[in-house]
Order: sequence, then C-alpha cells, then structure tokens
Amino acid sequence: MPENIHTIFDRLLPREDKEKFLHQHAKVIWLTGLSGSGKSTIAAGLERKLFESNFFVQLLDGDNVRTGINNNLGFSDEDRTENIRRIAEVSKLFLNSGIITINCFVSPTIEIRSLAKEIVGEDDFLEVFINTPLEICEQRDVKGLYQKARKGEIKDFTGIDSPFEAPIQPDLEIKTASQTIEESTEELYNFILPKIKQA
Ligand code: ADX
Repeated sequence: MPENIHTIFDRLLPREDKEKFLHQHAKVIWLTGLSGSGKSTIAAGLERKLFESNFFVQLLDGDNVRTGINNNLGFSDEDRTENIRRIAEVSKLFLNSGIITINCFVSPTIEIRSLAKEIVGEDDFLEVFINTPLEICEQRDVKGLYQKARKGEIKDFTGIDSPFEAPIQPDLEIKTASQTIEESTEELYNFILPKIKQA
C-alpha cells in the first residue's frame, strides 16, 4: 500500500487511549475444554469478579454466538473452524476497543486454537485449559447431550466421536475435578489480574 494512503485504522483512536480510559489492559482470555467441563460457569464467575473490581469485560460463548452471528454453523470440522475464526475476529475488535474478552468455546484442536491465537495476536491471547476428565463431563451431562451422542442421536460430538486435543502448553491449566467452582474461578482471577491491571 502506498505510504500516503491511510486506512481507517490510522484514523481510529488508538487502543492505548481506550485502555487508559477504562483503566485496564485488554486481553483475550480463551477457555478451551470439553462440553460440560465448566468453562461457561467459571467464565461467568470470572466476569462478575472482574466487573466488581471495576474491569470492563465481555463474555462470549455458544449461547450468545451460536444463536446469533454464527447461527448458520454446525459442528463439522469446517464449521467449527469458521465458528472460531469469526469469534477470534470479534474478540480482536473488542481488544482494539480496550475491552477484556472471556471466550468459552470447546475449540477442540491445536490447529483451531492456533488460528485463534494468530488472529488475536500472541501477546494478547491467554489460553486457559479447563481440564475436566471426559468421565466427569459425561456423568454430569448437564444438557443431556452425551447421552444423545452415545445413542448416536448426535453425530461428531466432541470427546465421543469427534476429537479433543488437549493444549500442550496452555498459559494456565485448571483441574476442576480436585477443587470447587469457586476455587477454580479464584485461580483464574488471580492469574488474570496482574495481566490486565494498569500500573
Ligand atoms: S466448537 O467446537 O465450535 O468450539 P462450541 O464451543 O461453539 O464448539 O459449541 C459447543 C457446545 O455446543 C457444547 O457445549 C454443546 O452444548 C453444544 N454441541 C452441540 N453439538 C455438539 C457437538 N457435536 N460437539 C460439541 N458440542 C456440541
């Protein structure tokens, strides 16, 4: 692009100004894990805690994304990739507005998560593995989906007939089986706090 041609990005207020206004550093907190692992519950607790500490936060999960902007997508590899690509792009827009985003998506493969990281930018992407064994997710079966998947009524269900690849080096791993939801939320909050606090 010739140097004298400015893009819209040159005319926008810089992210730093917005972060200063909000008294925070924006980050994308990316929770990955099996369906029923507790991602959304922990994320909702985190959002509340951060908001009570005067941080400006946006939570994205299947409920507000797959019913809206991504309501034309299913669970094939291709659709999951497109789901995550759009979420990452939306998160990047929030990031440039100075907002902290908490994302809860199964995002089942290493490839899919590295795509998200690439879009958001490595420095702003915090990968958090909500590690709950499949047996426990299946035992809980909050939405009754595991039972349906076992009966073959749902195809390509993560952990049953579609893969979940655990992150190799997540920024944080939370083992939910050995602690309460409150403890998991607290662990995540303590990890995030120094990364978003303005000096
Ligand atoms: S992702 O794989 O594209 O990242 P996403 O997090 O948006 O998945 O959606 C996962 C949620 O959709 C699950 O928690 C579950 O409630 C529901 N779901 C419905 N069908 C499937 C499926 N085949 N595999 C995984 N989750 C499914």
